[in-house]
Amino acid sequence: MQRFGAEELGYLQQVIESQELGSNNGDLTPAVEERFAKNWGAEYGICVNSAMSGLHMAVAAAGAGAGDEVICDPVVHFGGCAVLYNNAVPVFADIDPYTFTIDPAAIRERISERTKAIICTNLFGLPCDYDPIMEIAGEYNLIVIEDNAQAVGATYKGKYTGSIGHIGVFSFQQSKQLATGDGGMCLTSDKHLHDEMRITRLIGWLPEKRGDVAQRWREGRLGWNYRNTEMVAAVLMGQLDKADAILDNHRKAGAILTEALEGCEWLLPQRVDEERTHTYWVYGCRFEGEKVELTMDEFKRLAAEKELAASYHYTTLTSSAIPLFTEIRAYGKGCPIECPLYEGDVKYGVEQTPNCQELLDRLVLLGFSAWDLDFCKQQAEKIAEVRAAVE
Ligand SMILES: Cc1ncc(COP(=O)(O)O)c(C=O)c1O
Repeated sequence: MQRFGAEELGYLQQVIESQELGSNNGDLTPAVEERFAKNWGAEYGICVNSAMSGLHMAVAAAGAGAGDEVICDPVVHFGGCAVLYNNAVPVFADIDPYTFTIDPAAIRERISERTKAIICTNLFGLPCDYDPIMEIAGEYNLIVIEDNAQAVGATYKGKYTGSIGHIGVFSFQQSKQLATGDGGMCLTSDKHLHDEMRITRLIGWLPEKRGDVAQRWREGRLGWNYRNTEMVAAVLMGQLDKADAILDNHRKAGAILTEALEGCEWLLPQRVDEERTHTYWVYGCRFEGEKVELTMDEFKRLAAEKELAASYHYTTLTSSAIPLFTEIRAYGKGCPIECPLYEGDVKYGVEQTPNCQELLDRLVLLGFSAWDLDFCKQQAEKIAEVRAAVE
């Protein structure tokens, strides 16, 4: 199976032959929205040109704006950016040290009367712990936005991520499991949230007024142009034709490395309990070399010597400590944090999310390819050699 091949070409040909390359009037975009939503168990799908666009729209649909807070997880800063796009204030909640996903107890601690939504990242392909998150959201009437950019195909208690929260946002950027070069999708089963995102995706025009050039601005709102093209919808259709096989490869590749790390007490793969399935976008481990008197530098030297492919640089600094937030760089004028409409007292810095920083200091990403299981097997052998030298 080629990553991109006959399936994608077939749909692309269909698009070219239709002479309609834009999603405003093309047939493939609504078709792929419907198919994707159905496959992932949601009522509505909305195609966008990237996950960032989808996150921007999702935060807007949640009603978060100036003066409001949105709770985000801190390993990646994409959610925090989307909050700033809406002039709202990101508040970071810490992660669980072993699953690397947002800790529901930390979410609870961060809730204030200004909180409107929670953005939860299904990190590296692993779902967050959604039952307690949805319970907290229900208690405080908050919208849960799943950042599912890295986890298409993962499940929590048998349900696909991206359709567990109120809105799920997917990325089809080139590195992702299902890819269209660039692209994204928002899923929701809530009609109101769907209608809001339809409006903001397309300049702020009400969908039913879009064709009325003379009038559409009268009832229009603020929106953006987050349209995809029909070519992107075509490639996504092709990817969906073989999604089961692609996602299966990701799971198999992950399983090969997991087996090689079985019983290892000093290099701990992201913890996957029986309620979650992982769809390995990357393979993240927590290094606890102190248990066997091995420093990170010694491990790096040993891995290099045994030619184990590994990297040690993901985001390196917890989002709660990056200058974008600590120095309020967003708009250069202190907005939206030093804002007359904002009455909160958000705090940034490493001390806000210490588990996250500790994880990033210990994080090892093992080399991995869902398109080359032989490479994963070689990696497994090298893991065995490194373990033999250490244990
Ligand atoms: C967790 C997460 N959210 C959002 C994004 C942004 O995705 P896109 O490039 O489609 O905008 C990424 C990209 O890697 C991501 O990993």
